[in-house]
Amino acid sequence: MEINKENVLQALSFVIEPDLKKDIVALNLVSEIEVNGQHLSFKVQISNPALHNRKRMEEACLHHLHRFFGEGVQANISVEALAKDSERSPELRKLLPGVKNIIAIASGKGGVGKSTVTSNLAVALAEQGYKVGLVDADIYGPSIPLMFDVYSEKPAVIEIDGKQWIEPVVNHNVKVLSIGFFADTDQAIVWRGPMAAKALVQLFRDVNWGELDYMLIDLPPGTGDIHLSLVQTVPLTGVVVVSTPQEVALIDARKAVGMFKLNEINVPILGFVENMAYFTPAELPNNKYYIFGKEGLKNLAETMQIPLLGEIPLVQSIREAGDAGRPAVLQQTTPQAIAFSNLAKNVVRACTQRQKELI
Ligand SMILES: Nc1ncnc2c1ncn2[C@@H]1O[C@H](COP(=O)(O)OP(=O)(O)O)[C@@H](O)[C@H]1O
Ligand SMILES: [Mg+2]
Repeated sequence: MEINKENVLQALSFVIEPDLKKDIVALNLVSEIEVNGQHLSFKVQISNPALHNRKRMEEACLHHLHRFFGEGVQANISVEALAKDSERSPELRKLLPGVKNIIAIASGKGGVGKSTVTSNLAVALAEQGYKVGLVDADIYGPSIPLMFDVYSEKPAVIEIDGKQWIEPVVNHNVKVLSIGFFADTDQAIVWRGPMAAKALVQLFRDVNWGELDYMLIDLPPGTGDIHLSLVQTVPLTGVVVVSTPQEVALIDARKAVGMFKLNEINVPILGFVENMAYFTPAELPNNKYYIFGKEGLKNLAETMQIPLLGEIPLVQSIREAGDAGRPAVLQQTTPQAIAFSNLAKNVVRACTQRQKELI
């Protein structure tokens, strides 16, 4: 067979990227092909650039080139690390071009306060003068409409240049959109697999988000398909993982971190938030009771070398404020409001740091 670029690509289409589980040509990982008689050279990007993986990739490419063109063909293959999603894919950047930082809030377990932390963080950032949007992507239990007191609202649809756009709902200076607006809670349970992924994409692609400094995404708990399709849809700046201090929650928090660190996902962890870090009764605001154990997440953060961005107390009024649709951070001078506003400052710092690393 004649050695030309087309045939080389055809030969290489038999080589599978071990992490991404598709062939390297379909994944667009082969570039700079040069052919000179029996000599050819090209570049391949791989997800995990450990030495033995690079060696194996080189061998796989050679094997299929020899199969196609005979043993005489010589190839100079340079195997390099695949750039991170956010840097690699200009297509992803086209979605939400006006949004400077996109942060997913994740947790290993449900009920650890992910939505409470997300809503308070959003309002705290808005109070600090940033333009903020919040996407409630928790298909299993969308609770942001309640926490923002917008559950009876329906987002408007507007037309710009002949295309229809969904307008987010605004309260407490935050633009909010929830998967809960598009189905009642019973229906939301049915949204699994491809349907959920499609609905999720719409929350980003068909919404008039405009210019935002921070977009927060309240993810479903755990690790699953939704998380995978999210990282393929949205150029995430990073992930914040919420956990309570007790052992069962920590085990799942560790799993969540593991998922985001997988090669094919590869999203930076901005840090942890320890929620319900200690209990403080309203009448004894200076007393701290470590009912779920002391500093469990702080210790995990140190072991995993992940920053601890905030410690939020367990306070009755945080729950009441959430149920009333007025996030607790609005209670200005209380210790819990201060805890949330410190969390916001640390998140801003972590994002600034992350953006510097990308330049
Ligand atoms: N720090 C806290 N203090 C008091 N109640 C809290 C706190 N964090 C969360 N809650 C309450 O715990 C319940 C579960 O929190 P939620 O944010 O809905 O969790 P998740 O989104 O992780 O499922 C809610 O009723 C919420 O008001
Ligand atoms: Mg929730």
